Amino acid sequence: ADPGLIDRFGRRAVDLRVSLTDRCNLRCTYCMPAEGLAWLPNSEVLTDDEVIRLVRIGVELLGVKDVRFTGGEPLIRPGLTKIVTEVAALDRRPKMSLTTNGIGLERTAVALRDAGLDRINVSLDTLDDERFTTLTRRRRLHDVLAGLRAAADAGLTPVKINTVLMRGINDDEAPALLAFALEHGYELRFIEQMPLDAQHGWDRESMVTAEEILRDLRAAFTLLPDPVARGGAPAETWLVDGHEALGGGPARVGVIGTVTRPFCGDCDRTRLTADGQVRACLFATEESDLRAALRSGASDEEVADRWRIAMWGKRAGHGIDDPSFLQPSRPMSAIGG
Ligand code: GTP
Ligand code: 5AD
Ligand code: SF4
Repeated sequence: ADPGLIDRFGRRAVDLRVSLTDRCNLRCTYCMPAEGLAWLPNSEVLTDDEVIRLVRIGVELLGVKDVRFTGGEPLIRPGLTKIVTEVAALDRRPKMSLTTNGIGLERTAVALRDAGLDRINVSLDTLDDERFTTLTRRRRLHDVLAGLRAAADAGLTPVKINTVLMRGINDDEAPALLAFALEHGYELRFIEQMPLDAQHGWDRESMVTAEEILRDLRAAFTLLPDPVARGGAPAETWLVDGHEALGGGPARVGVIGTVTRPFCGDCDRTRLTADGQVRACLFATEESDLRAALRSGASDEEVADRWRIAMWGKRAGHGIDDPSFLQPSRPMSAIGG
């Protein structure tokens, strides 16, 4: 039997994304309502040891090579450093990265690096203090900028920034954000907004497209084709002429065009929610309950088999353009970014 997580279309998942909590300390308007959501009860969230066991099964039995911790906001999970430490101690240690809003990173970046984290992606949609406060409903821009600096100083590089542009809100900021990223040596990526918000308010016309973003960037910068192969990565990248990255080498900018330039055919991802459900895709409508398997005494091999079966059923693509498309019932914050 093939040991890996393959699907019927021949894709192989080697990149595991683990949501460590569905909670967050921001309230980005495009993600969740001001009052927050009905959070998972603690008893349903995987314990640190359960997370570590599932990651070990992924790495040792299923061929996972990269592990990304997400949320909600993963930095608010008390056991994060312990989890990173124990995953770093596995045989065939995977590459480890974290996707965060950056709040608290100033205090934790060094400890995370020492625990074995390799790199960090920080979400930042605007450089304007008032806009940031309106968009996230918290006055925390300063903390995010400090977190970015701390990640770079700790060597958690390349430090990447994720930006979602929204029409009439921050869609005039693409060149300014790129100038900021270039000045500090961060690698900026723009993400097309996806139908994954808790409020189900997404519509295609207000989505700022990859094409629009590139047009705005090209008005201010010269973008050159990136010779490095994209592989399964969601971001299409360009070199920014005349600029260097933090540790030397050319500076890059990326666009993640999930909706208008889908990359599902090359997808190499498998996901675990904070409550231990495998999702074969961000947009999957089905989940497979590994927490139940763990808590009913299943062996590592039995858990691995359940995981293989879940991934075999992965659909060909996200289907956002299908007339029958239905937004998944879980929002992005509960699936993991
Ligand atoms: P690196 O480039 O390796 O740092 O990873 P990444 O792009 O996966 O990192 P990150 O977690 O920061 O994800 C950035 C954004 O890419 C997410 O917020 C999503 O918008 C998008 N993304 C991540 N995973 C998927 C996926 O499986 N499918 C699609 N369509 N988009 C994804
Ligand atoms: N579409 C695209 N990106 C989103 N994010 C959150 N919700 C959405 C959405 N609906 C982004 C965040 C963060 C990353 C994890 O996902 O801004 O950068
Ligand atoms: Fe913002 Fe991410 Fe938190 Fe949603 S989960 S409110 S996008 S930081």
